[in-house]
Amino acid sequence: MWFLKEKKRIFPLFKGGTAEYNRRERPVGNRAFQKGEAAMKSLTPKYPHMLHGGDYNPDQWLDRPDILEEDIRLMKEAHINCVSVGIFAWAKLEPQEGVYDFDWLEEIITRLYENGIYTVLATPSGAKPVWMSEQHPEIRRVQANLVRDETGGRHNHCYTSPYYREKVKAMDTALAQRFASHPGVILWHLSNEYGGECYCPQCQAAFRRWLQEKYGTLDNLNHQWWTTFWSHTYTDWEQIHAPVPHGETSVHGLTLDWKRFVTHQVIDFMKVERDAVKAADPSIPVTTNFMYDFYQYNYFKFKDQLDVISWDSYPQWRNEGNVETAADFALWHDVMRSIKGQPFLLMESTPSTTNWTPVSKLKKPGMHMASSLQAVAHGSNSVQYFQFRKSRGSTEKFHGAVVDHYGGSDTRVFRDVAAVGQRLEAIDAVTQSDVKAEVALVFDMENRWAIEGAAGPRNCGIHYAEQVRAHYRALWRMGIPVDIVDEECDISGYKLVIAPMLYLLRAGFEERLKAFVENGGILIGTYHTGLVNENDLCYLGGWPGAGLGEVFGLWHEDTDALWDDEHNTLRLADGREYGLKEICALIHPRGAQVLGTYGEDFYQGEAALTVNQYGKGRAYYIASFGEDALYRDLYQKLAGKLSLKRALEDLPPQGVEACLRENGEVQYLFLQNFSGRQQQVSLPQGYASLEGEPVQEASLAPYDGQVFCREKR
Ligand code: GLA
Ligand code: ZN
Repeated sequence: MWFLKEKKRIFPLFKGGTAEYNRRERPVGNRAFQKGEAAMKSLTPKYPHMLHGGDYNPDQWLDRPDILEEDIRLMKEAHINCVSVGIFAWAKLEPQEGVYDFDWLEEIITRLYENGIYTVLATPSGAKPVWMSEQHPEIRRVQANLVRDETGGRHNHCYTSPYYREKVKAMDTALAQRFASHPGVILWHLSNEYGGECYCPQCQAAFRRWLQEKYGTLDNLNHQWWTTFWSHTYTDWEQIHAPVPHGETSVHGLTLDWKRFVTHQVIDFMKVERDAVKAADPSIPVTTNFMYDFYQYNYFKFKDQLDVISWDSYPQWRNEGNVETAADFALWHDVMRSIKGQPFLLMESTPSTTNWTPVSKLKKPGMHMASSLQAVAHGSNSVQYFQFRKSRGSTEKFHGAVVDHYGGSDTRVFRDVAAVGQRLEAIDAVTQSDVKAEVALVFDMENRWAIEGAAGPRNCGIHYAEQVRAHYRALWRMGIPVDIVDEECDISGYKLVIAPMLYLLRAGFEERLKAFVENGGILIGTYHTGLVNENDLCYLGGWPGAGLGEVFGLWHEDTDALWDDEHNTLRLADGREYGLKEICALIHPRGAQVLGTYGEDFYQGEAALTVNQYGKGRAYYIASFGEDALYRDLYQKLAGKLSLKRALEDLPPQGVEACLRENGEVQYLFLQNFSGRQQQVSLPQGYASLEGEPVQEASLAPYDGQVFCREKR
């Protein structure tokens, strides 16, 4: 049992007890909701349940024990079972150099635990205390203009500084030694939203060392970066500087390697934190919270250092047009699940509104349920918020929170949060299931950096992410589960692999693509594929390079780019036509069968859509960026041919998202209605409601989310 130290008590009265609230029997309804796969590893073994709660920053309220007491009462009322504590608390944990004060934290964690609320304990490295920043300016970040930051803000430390690393290690070690054995602490939350780059001399020196290790000799580096062009040849390692707007931006190999290095260096920093907390008790899992569409780092590279992926999701809902937003966030939930190929955690979301967007819009009635269940439907084992209680002052005082400045539970937001908490309790067994996809969509960050960093063929927007989204939306619309993979992932187990705009082919991926198709897989490729190798050097001897030309059975001779107001068309043999935009690859079949041709321009009548038999499989090539209907029709056809798993037998109504989670015994069907209208959905046979009632047709209010289950036959 964990005993509270006597000193510095915050709560006037400490009532001990057991964690009775979360240990009670869960409601029994549908038997299938109680089933799980014993073999499935729990993310947080100390509390293997669906987590509901969020960031809790009691360090702001230590002089208000009445509020801290009230917080616990309100958490229980909101069906909250888990909070993330200490994220930005460094100044309270180490008020002056070397003087730690953890008693207040211990009292709060214990108090929470005794009330059945578990703690995700953060390391505080996301914001350095003022005293430290002032005494050690070298830990402040240097921006791309090569000017060092003043004290202020957060997420702005240098990742290389030996002093900062040492301070972080000492703090994390002390926290872990004190709290790893606490029965209430279930997970480490490393820092907060690692982000940004530092251009200080220490980071630049580390970059040079990283390059030396990668290339061995300067000759090799000069060759790989093609520095002879414009006389940019380096004759000494010390001449290499990070790419900055007023310096070198024309050597694309340098730009790409800098981005790779930044990811490497942040992971290296994160390892210091990870190792410090793991030293006390390796069994407590670690995570760090990722962000939406985060361009600066390659998140897939973090996967081996983290036990659980978590992320912060803030969709910007509007009065109309929420379906596209829902599809977009579905994709990002899928990215997060796919990074480790296992359930993830939704670490933050807003219960109502944000305060950092141009317009701070409230969620419409129901939207909190639909958007929360969407995360779970795509593989989250939690719904967490920023933050539990609204700050009274400073920059986030108007950000939505479970408890408003008003302080009571009789608010719409509080009731919405409690309703989600109750629903999550009822579907707790879902944590013992996962999303199992037969389709992989390649979305590779290094490829994205390279495509967007190149000059041409469309500097007004080459739209890699939009192209990936176009393919994703078609599958999402049909309720087909999809994994998002990068060029380092294993693709051998899928039926269908979609690899749009595979411009940069990283060493080894072309072999896996070839093997995949040879062994019977279906590959979809597009324009802008196989142009450069992993160091951004163009393939000689014809595109798609690295042997992919054989797989697609064609040669890509040239590329025409279109202005925003220019279009072309794709004509199929049966007369159907689809609009095309942005880029048209001019291709010549070398064995591939032509399924469609260009309708306009000097290449009218030439191949625009092809398929090639390669080994036991087939490879399709779409030579341009099509309108949505093209992807819809293509995947509709392939879903039938390949008997792809779908959540429903038919198309869900427009705006309703249908998702599946499953284990060996049970399938869970999630329906989220983002259409803004009442919807009826016919369910496949055998599904029942949470209460165990058979359901043939689901009735969904606007923005409602519902879950059904059936046993596998
Ligand atoms: C991020 C941060 C939080 C908070 C929220 C506000 O996700 O991690 O600390 O600032 O944004 O939306
Ligand atoms: Zn630095």
